[in-house]
Amino acid sequence: MNVTTIEVTVNGSRESLQVRPNLSLLHLLREDLALTGTKNGCEAGECGACIVLLDGEPVNSCIVLAVECDGCTIETIEGLNDLPLMQKLQKAFMDENAIQCGFCTPGMLISSLALLRRNPNPADAEIRTALLGNLCRCTGYERIISAVRSTAGI
Ligand code: FES
Ligand code: FES
Repeated sequence: MNVTTIEVTVNGSRESLQVRPNLSLLHLLREDLALTGTKNGCEAGECGACIVLLDGEPVNSCIVLAVECDGCTIETIEGLNDLPLMQKLQKAFMDENAIQCGFCTPGMLISSLALLRRNPNPADAEIRTALLGNLCRCTGYERIISAVRSTAGI
């Protein structure tokens, strides 16, 4: 199969990568770049476990082709970990017991970060709307909503 060279910035590092036309951004991150904090849940754009920031906007990386990312900036949970707002979110998730198995947590945190960047003090309804694309099998969501609420406005 033909390969294409793409140039991307991943977590601040400029990368030149050879990709197959059918390679998803999710597989590029997990398998080619060993960034396994991005989770593979459904591979159908349904669960949000694979969310990353693409040019600052949250996307389901399983339904984005790597070739579409040429020239783009990609941020994964590994690259966002040290941001002060992400650290506040992580502490709130722990304090509110909003993590059980943790599979959904990277995607939840990135969606929450994106929300709080565009609206630092969202209403509960806005938090729920922002997390509609993130499925959690464990927590029942209320603790996650509480964690985001407790981070808002800090
Ligand atoms: S793995 Fe991408 S949305 Fe579920
Ligand atoms: S904590 Fe298990 S899927 Fe959300």
